[in-house]
Amino acid sequence: MEFTVKSGNPEKQRTACLVLGVYESRRLTPPAEQFDSACGGYLGNLLRRGDLEGKPGQSLLLFNVPEALCERVLLVGCGREREIDDRRLRQILTHTATALNDIGATEATVYLTDLAVKGRDLGWKIRQTIEAVEEALYRFDALKSKKDMPRRPLRRIILSVPGRRELPGAEQAVRESAAIAAGVKFAKDLGNMPPNLCTPTWLAEQAQALAGEFPTLHVQILEEAELEQMGMHALLAVSRGSAQPAKLIRLDYRQGPAKQKPHILVGKGVTFDTGGISLKPGEGMDEMKFDMCGAASVLGTFRAFAELQLPLNVTGLIPAVENMPGGRATRPGDIVTSLSGQTVEILNTDAEGRLILCDTLTYAERDEPAAVIDIATLTGACIIALGRHPHGLFSNHPPLTHALQTAAQAAGDRVWELPLWDDYQEALDSNFADMANIASNRDGGAIIAACFLARFAKKFHWAHLDIAGTAWKTGKAKGATGRPVPLLTQYLLDRVAEADRDDDRAAH
Ligand code: BES
Ligand code: MN
Ligand code: ZN
Repeated sequence: MEFTVKSGNPEKQRTACLVLGVYESRRLTPPAEQFDSACGGYLGNLLRRGDLEGKPGQSLLLFNVPEALCERVLLVGCGREREIDDRRLRQILTHTATALNDIGATEATVYLTDLAVKGRDLGWKIRQTIEAVEEALYRFDALKSKKDMPRRPLRRIILSVPGRRELPGAEQAVRESAAIAAGVKFAKDLGNMPPNLCTPTWLAEQAQALAGEFPTLHVQILEEAELEQMGMHALLAVSRGSAQPAKLIRLDYRQGPAKQKPHILVGKGVTFDTGGISLKPGEGMDEMKFDMCGAASVLGTFRAFAELQLPLNVTGLIPAVENMPGGRATRPGDIVTSLSGQTVEILNTDAEGRLILCDTLTYAERDEPAAVIDIATLTGACIIALGRHPHGLFSNHPPLTHALQTAAQAAGDRVWELPLWDDYQEALDSNFADMANIASNRDGGAIIAACFLARFAKKFHWAHLDIAGTAWKTGKAKGATGRPVPLLTQYLLDRVAEADRDDDRAAH
């Protein structure tokens, strides 16, 4: 989809479809009113007759509006003016996008960016519009033999801005959200791939292909022999039962000052999680193909910020494995030595995410990171605790917690903090090794998993995002969400702004 911004009066637009808002009850928004006075009060009459109440979710398509230069007008219900918040705006935009796609217009000019939302500026509304449109139009039909393409798909959306003064800021917002949307789409496509095709080897190839598109990106694939030699035995324990070899995918992007420490993103890349010998129950097991969505979000974020050419140093680390039962598989009770030297008694082979992540975190120490953020579909317990709206957030460094909360708020990609208190640590005591990989009961499972990781993240500022509830949707709309690409990209955008502020301060 192509997005552009434009300032100008609605009645002057020669467009295939003009989109105007109507508040409840039957009240035109200011641009709709302006258009209406140019066409002799046609819209006002319609509303008075009761053809559209203006409730959110309602819309009305009009042809041959008298005196109008546009081919069609789509009136969209916006609800009560004073009730428009983040959620409501998103709802209005999603409905608009779906309606536009069904109409058969290839182009539309949208006058919804002037709806007032508390605490949100024009740039934010532009970003929400673009993300909502891309979300509503997304399909994963690469593996369907018949694709149901609309006959005349929507190709171009023009977003109105109030005046010429707002254009530069609006254009920047379009660039940022187009890059984020491309990153989200990439992450969704990777997540939705079936696990027979999306193997660790295939994921590594996707990283290499991404680096082929962006010369600023460098990829290195560490093979099992190298992982073995380094001593990543916790990671290797997970893929022992699989015919697919493990890979550690490393991406490097160095566009910041040479002395600037890198931000490191670590993404859980379990391409299928059967549970291993601690086999999962059969129901819904297909969804464990999404257990690489952390990895997908790292790749999606790299696509987004590489496209924006952010002046930062960023490293991506993706431990990619398949967790299968088999004659060589790790058994409950096996003890392995992690890269850190700490020994782990693997009491449950289904708690595999923490095993591949702990070695990857230790490996990240070598790069002397500014901060490490891991992203993982780590625990079903996180879904029990928080449901499917926010990512679970854990961190050993309050300023990093705050930075992620701020980015989440700005991106509309929410997080909720959970504690990492030492009180929880003793649940991981083992009689036979330095620690066990699970606790003996199910209490606070998301926290226990994070506490396990914290033991491997003592040497740097670290945050953990448990995306078990947010990485994909279940049920009828089953599919990857592409989250938290918007959050992570915003976090990096904020780091650029922060570095600029520091430079300014140094100059004065
Ligand atoms: N990938 C799963 C977590 C998961 C389960 C995410 C369901 C989303 C939906 C993870 O590897 C896992 O199996 N975790 C176990 C941990 C337990 C054995 C301590 C879990 O959550 O049941
Ligand atoms: Mn598991
Ligand atoms: Zn898993």
